[in-house]
Amino acid sequence: MTMDVLKNLNPPQKEAVLHGEGPLLILAGAGSGKTRVITNRIDHLIRERGVRPWNILAVTFTNKAAREMAERVSKLLGGADTPLIATFHAACGRILRRDIHQLGFQSSFAIYDDRDSDRLLKDADKGADKGT
Ligand SMILES: Nc1ncnc2c1ncn2[C@@H]1O[C@H](COP(=O)(O)OP(=O)(O)O)[C@@H](O)[C@H]1O
Ligand SMILES: [Mg+2]
Repeated sequence: MTMDVLKNLNPPQKEAVLHGEGPLLILAGAGSGKTRVITNRIDHLIRERGVRPWNILAVTFTNKAAREMAERVSKLLGGADTPLIATFHAACGRILRRDIHQLGFQSSFAIYDDRDSDRLLKDADKGADKGT
């Protein structure tokens, strides 16, 4: 129940969770309850404001933060559908994999990081030396 959820928030957290439409910026120190705000806000949007889970995207910088946020949201929602909660790299990867056929590519593509690209260039260079 949202009422119970709101009891576990301090006044500024409550204000942030209940914030209606439009952008909202939260600046607060480590361990001050930011993730609690975001997870309860997601819960509130879905249960109280009728937002569909697939219309919510939550992105983090680290895998650890994404995992923690996804676990906490899934606990709050009690097994109902959860939004996409991932690092921004993973979220972009998921979206690309799902929709890249629209651009004529197959979804089985590989994503190269800087090291992979370096290695590819070096391999190509070696191949060029051998005249292959
Ligand atoms: N209003 C609150 N009352 C009690 N515990 C809280 C409250 N807000 C956050 N906490 C707890 O404090 C800890 C840190 O909160 P968290 O949301 O993870 O902070 P942050 O994301 O800012 O680092 C967590 O264990 C969380 O459950
Ligand atoms: Mg946090």
